[in-house]
Amino acid sequence: PNKITVQTLAEKLGKAPSEVIKFLMMKGVMAAINQEIDFDTASQVAEEYGILLEEEAEEVLEEKMFEEEPDNPEDLVERPPVVVVMGHVDHGKTSLLDAIRESNVTAKEAGGITQHIGASTVEINGKKITFLDTPGHEAFTAMRMRGAQVTDIAILVVAADDGVMPQTIEAINHAKAANVQIIVAVNKIDKPSANPDRVKQELADHGLLVEEWGGDTICVPVSAIAKTNLDTLLEMVLLVAEMAELKANPNKRARGTIIEAQLDKGRGPVATVLVQSGTLKVGDPIVAGSAYGRIRAMMDDKGRRVKKAGPSTPVEILGLSEVPAAGDSFYVAESDKQARHYAQILAERNREQSLRATPNKVSLDDLFSQ
Ligand code: GTP
Ligand code: MG
Repeated sequence: PNKITVQTLAEKLGKAPSEVIKFLMMKGVMAAINQEIDFDTASQVAEEYGILLEEEAEEVLEEKMFEEEPDNPEDLVERPPVVVVMGHVDHGKTSLLDAIRESNVTAKEAGGITQHIGASTVEINGKKITFLDTPGHEAFTAMRMRGAQVTDIAILVVAADDGVMPQTIEAINHAKAANVQIIVAVNKIDKPSANPDRVKQELADHGLLVEEWGGDTICVPVSAIAKTNLDTLLEMVLLVAEMAELKANPNKRARGTIIEAQLDKGRGPVATVLVQSGTLKVGDPIVAGSAYGRIRAMMDDKGRRVKKAGPSTPVEILGLSEVPAAGDSFYVAESDKQARHYAQILAERNREQSLRATPNKVSLDDLFSQ
């Protein structure tokens, strides 16, 4: 049920609004200039002028599609923070993520086989944290893409024996530009050459004053290898998340972002998505760029089949018609038909934005672009 205002309809028909209002009155519809009328009525008016409103229908649909369903305040519930680990090459981003996952995730798994997807969830003290993986130094390759902001918190890894380096500064700038909270993890404190105070000084030089020096930047000394202080780091993440009061409405059709996607020989297009609002379910008709389809199966970050996924949950989905681009937004449509229709619209838009890069992973730039 699409709607259009009398004013817009008049503009589209190139007629005076008063004339359209008169026309509507003759049809028994009383409408003011700013009032919305349903699309069928609008089409009938247009027909009188010998104009087909088909294209307009698409435009209206298109706008509707990007309009998020409004939330009732009582539907908003706490959601896990979405965290990205950033830092200079070799400062220990991957080691830190591995260490966090091992102590919280893999250790508890029966077979110990963790299917690696571009995002994962850990649980600490009964609270969840969602981590997004970013590739090492490629993370900084500039990729200009649209996309909603997906991260809440950035863990900035700085090696205690190396200090603030060019990509540390880049990461600080990215996070600041996107208004993402930074938590510093001074890593490799097990090393004899570690000098955390020097790191703190260098951070101060770049506008991050740590708490013990009177600033408001949380800074945790850690060792990914010796597994020192990882719990403290995670507790800090939860603390920051709690203060940010991150909320989302799980009671509506899901939308979110494609984190990574590829073609799997046996399973077809496979995409890792992050649900940002609503609840994604098996069987949902979904659109992501020019890809569309009905979700055939969903797997969580541990490779287990799941039937639904709420806000801040990363899942792998099967059933798309093609491989979407990382950074694409995804939407759940009202029907298969609508999904296909939206995909056509988005495909057209993509064609218009010709030579669009289609990376198969999201970069930091994408994560922070808004
Ligand atoms: P890129 O992805 O290439 O940017 O690197 P990274 O930041 O992911 O670093 P990675 O985890 O690959 O670690 C780089 C090197 O530092 C490896 O040899 C790790 O073993 C070592 N390393 C990481 N964390 C620690 C630590 O806490 N202590 C010590 N001693 N070595 C560490
Ligand atoms: Mg790495």
